[in-house]
Amino acid sequence: MGLHVGIIMDGNGRWAQSRGLMRTQGHLEGLKAAKQIVKAASGMGIDFLTLYVFSTENWKRTAEEVGFIMGLARQYLKAEFAFCRENHIRVRHAGDLSGLPPDVAKDIADVRGDTEAFAGMQVILALNYGGRDEIVRAVNKALAGGAGAVAGAPLEINEQVIAEHLDNPDVPDPDLIIRTAGEYRISNFLLWESAYAEYYISDKLWPDWTGADLAEAVDSFQKRERRFGGVNSASRGAGVSL
Ligand code: IPE
Ligand code: IPE
Ligand code: MG
Repeated sequence: MGLHVGIIMDGNGRWAQSRGLMRTQGHLEGLKAAKQIVKAASGMGIDFLTLYVFSTENWKRTAEEVGFIMGLARQYLKAEFAFCRENHIRVRHAGDLSGLPPDVAKDIADVRGDTEAFAGMQVILALNYGGRDEIVRAVNKALAGGAGAVAGAPLEINEQVIAEHLDNPDVPDPDLIIRTAGEYRISNFLLWESAYAEYYISDKLWPDWTGADLAEAVDSFQKRERRFGGVNSASRGAGVSL
């Protein structure tokens, strides 16, 4: 099937606050949910799963909260290698590695390298990721590499040039983007890649998400009719012929 599903894992803070807990506790529960969802997804015909872990705007939060999330990343990236190996999961990264604490950036580079040959599902961790930032970095990479330059002519940026310089150019565009916690916005996630993605919004908070919720989202997606700007097959044949 080869589906690419992206998830904006939102609502950790609300989950914790509604229980009188610290927001950080919500992130811990959110990590547990993410692990469950990765397990469930690999049995669902999903080939690519992009998880929005931390946005380029999330640095606005308190040092305590940001520090806690980076700490979880440190712990998780090292601890899950055995799971990835057993399940042939390839871990990749989207976002600006250079803006992360050096040890976190190294852990990401390590797990990316260690799982590179695994041919199962690909899990792309969007960490210090912003869609606008990715596009700007892509354009700069293209300019630095002289992409599209024809001798004597000015460098031309076109869609193909940008697409080829995104963080993971070989990963297909997302088919389905899920957002939890009932917010109807994109919050700078996969702006370029999501041009024709289908959306699924769930009111449930991320720590409450289970494999059954993912199955429901995929099921809803399967019933959609994607037209990519064209017309569907039924209406194509139904018009009055001129
Ligand atoms: C999503 O949950 C996790 C991150 C953005 C890191 P939030 O922390 O945004 O949770 P809410 O939206 O405040 O409930
Ligand atoms: C989006 O959630 C980012 C992640 C889930 C990592 P936010 O909670 O940061 O988004 P806003 O601020 O509600 O738009
Ligand atoms: Mg949020």
